[in-house]
Amino acid sequence: MRILSSRPRQIAGRVGGRTATAARAAYYATGFRLPFPGKEAFEDRLHRWESTAGRGDVPQDESRWNEQYDRGRWVFLSGIEEMAHYAVIVGYASFLKPHSAVLDVGCGAGVLHERFAAVGYARYTGIDISEVAISSLQGSAPSNATFVAADAATFTPPSTYDVIVFNESITYFTDPIGVFARYQNFLSPGGIVVVSCHIQSARAHAILRQLERDHHVLDVTVVRQGKTSWRCVAFAGEAI
Ligand SMILES: C[S@@+](CC[C@H](N)C(=O)[O-])C[C@H]1O[C@@H](n2cnc3c(N)ncnc32)[C@H](O)[C@@H]1O
Repeated sequence: MRILSSRPRQIAGRVGGRTATAARAAYYATGFRLPFPGKEAFEDRLHRWESTAGRGDVPQDESRWNEQYDRGRWVFLSGIEEMAHYAVIVGYASFLKPHSAVLDVGCGAGVLHERFAAVGYARYTGIDISEVAISSLQGSAPSNATFVAADAATFTPPSTYDVIVFNESITYFTDPIGVFARYQNFLSPGGIVVVSCHIQSARAHAILRQLERDHHVLDVTVVRQGKTSWRCVAFAGEAI
């Protein structure tokens, strides 16, 4: 009896997983960029499933980010294994807009800021939804750098910037395409936006594909370090 009654549940679980995987693939292949009835509710359910299934670079509550920074989940970002994509971002900024005003959206605990500090900048603003990440930076920031705990979706920067960076952060926004477009308003004339995403992710692919379709791409670098690859894209300010 026990065997008979547990089998349907196991099968249902497998089928549910397969259905969700197929729905997810279809969504990132086409549904991501197209409107469809009930899209918002579908995305909400999908992100919850992705989050629990560990398919992860999806929107999360502020409390989850705080808990992750508290337990050191993101400390690895400052290690040598992650060096390459930070170097490409700083490379684009120094080549195209040397000694610039930089806005780092989703700055975390400031790893990119450390890399920028090595080459110099005019001023630096980092924003992140995690108060834990931001408070780890306060006290040690130089006078021309400011770090603010805020949601990128609603934050209004105090001025304009030559370089706006989304480094491993854009996939975590509920409306990544809308947030990218919104920050165009805070670019100085001739300013650039740099986006970097690790590309073992259907969501990152879908987001980058759409951004690259809709905006002027100045250059793309795909960097592989160890087993991970990142796509780093430098965009000119204006939409196509
Ligand atoms: C993978 S971490 C990368 C952190 C940082 N860019 C780095 O490379 O060290 C993603 C970051 O995005 C931030 N984030 C996620 N959603 C956000 C939002 N809505 N507004 C601002 N920051 C957000 C998280 O708190 C986290 O610090």
